[in-house]
Amino acid sequence: MATSVLLVDADRYLVQPMAEYLREQGFEVTTARNYAEAIERLTEGEFDIVLSEVDLGERDGFALLDWVKEHSPETSVILMTGYGTIDNAVEAIRRGAVDYLVKPILVEELRISLDRAMAQHNLRAENRRLKRQLDDRYGLDAIVGRDVRMLQVYELIEAVADTRTTVLITGESGTGKSLTARAIHRLSRRRNGPFVEVCCGALPETLLESELFGHKAGSFTGAVADRKGKFALADGGTIFLDEIATASPALQVKLLRVLQDMEFEPIGSSETIRVDARPILATNQDLEQLVREGKFREDLYYRINVINIQLPPLRERASDIPLLAEHFLKKYREETGKPVRGFTSAAMDLLQCYHWPGNIRELENAVERAVVLCRGELIEPEDLPPTLRRSALSVPVASLPSQGQGAPQKGLKAALLEPERQLVLAALEANNWNKQRTAKALGINRATLYKKMRKLGLLPPKQDGQGRSKQAGKSGADSKPSELYARG
Ligand SMILES: Nc1ncnc2c1ncn2[C@@H]1O[C@H](COP(=O)(O)OP(=O)(O)OP(=O)(O)O)[C@@H](O)[C@H]1O
Ligand SMILES: [Mg+2]
Repeated sequence: MATSVLLVDADRYLVQPMAEYLREQGFEVTTARNYAEAIERLTEGEFDIVLSEVDLGERDGFALLDWVKEHSPETSVILMTGYGTIDNAVEAIRRGAVDYLVKPILVEELRISLDRAMAQHNLRAENRRLKRQLDDRYGLDAIVGRDVRMLQVYELIEAVADTRTTVLITGESGTGKSLTARAIHRLSRRRNGPFVEVCCGALPETLLESELFGHKAGSFTGAVADRKGKFALADGGTIFLDEIATASPALQVKLLRVLQDMEFEPIGSSETIRVDARPILATNQDLEQLVREGKFREDLYYRINVINIQLPPLRERASDIPLLAEHFLKKYREETGKPVRGFTSAAMDLLQCYHWPGNIRELENAVERAVVLCRGELIEPEDLPPTLRRSALSVPVASLPSQGQGAPQKGLKAALLEPERQLVLAALEANNWNKQRTAKALGINRATLYKKMRKLGLLPPKQDGQGRSKQAGKSGADSKPSELYARG
């Protein structure tokens, strides 16, 4: 795309030949005769370079320079003048112009200035691109998952991001609460403001208070200087209070007030501070239960539970496991430079059958470890943590079908099928035995689901008055092991 130039000068004897010269050089040129016209053109569309006379009448080229710096910071500005002074030249550069040219302007001089302006513009554009990449890293694009429940999460995130509403993120450890909090910040208009994170469980109560609200020098032993608290630091941005359930009763009272009015006093100070910070809170505990037990203030609970984003545990969105596994594989392949292409199907099946108590963090760690250990192009079951391999084999004894003597082989086969049966059964129940939805949730097609159901002896309740678990156990023992487990 051609570099665009806005040429601003009242002198048409200069403008015409200069515009012509610039067009010959491949620039896309627009002209304006004064300040007002220039602003009009600039608000209509962005320019890469503004080349402007200083003397524009009432408002001069310096004012135009300031306007551009404020409204279109990526645009480079070159000023020109008939009456150059050193002072003005210095001033122009100080205010952000690329160059200050004194008329009559030599062609070579102009060319050098334009080159410099283009280089500056490209640098700024590159910076913006990098920044956008960073935004992606912490924005919605950083969150992987296509499960219906994740789609609902994305919708909520987008809906609340640009509001000031308090958001409560709940979910087991490692389900992506911190990631979600960052995504909300990144998608909000506050994205250029601070994102301040406080882990409420990590500090003893006394320190936590000073950490949150700051203190005056001398307000307690060790408070040698004034200190700004996290709430003050989050002004204009987002404050993320993690592990909120661990807040002590005293702190809960203070939080109630600051979350309601965004007002507080630093420790040892009588001055009330007001901040504009958007609160996001997270917990992996059941707050409602804690309220019932009297361990968490009910009024605080209602204050923070305005919008609740519930992150599903990984085992409830097993269909996302391959996607996440590939995502982390790519990440660690790039980090380690190892030529690992993917997973053997046995390894992938182990990943899909495991119940992931540590959720996505545990999956990420497992994949990182596997990439490091992997000696070929594909990750094998041996590269995965022993817990995964053990859990695929250690089926509760009760679920083993009772076999007569001499049939240990059959019992083992059935045991090996158990994790898959559990997974399919859970998906069926979660989707009300709707095959279409279940197949989608499991990431397989409907025909495959039918086949699996038959193999695993899973029939919907109404077709089987005796209850499906009994039946499932029986036919599980009779069926053939899937290829996968035979290999694994
Ligand atoms: N949907 C996801 N897509 C990609 N990566 C994810 C996703 N969810 C979580 N992660 C990654 O998993 C790890 C754990 O996520 P995060 O720290 O956000 O979890 P958490 O719920 O805050 O955990 P904790 O309760 O321990 O604080 C991080 O490295 C994060 O980047
Ligand atoms: Mg966290």
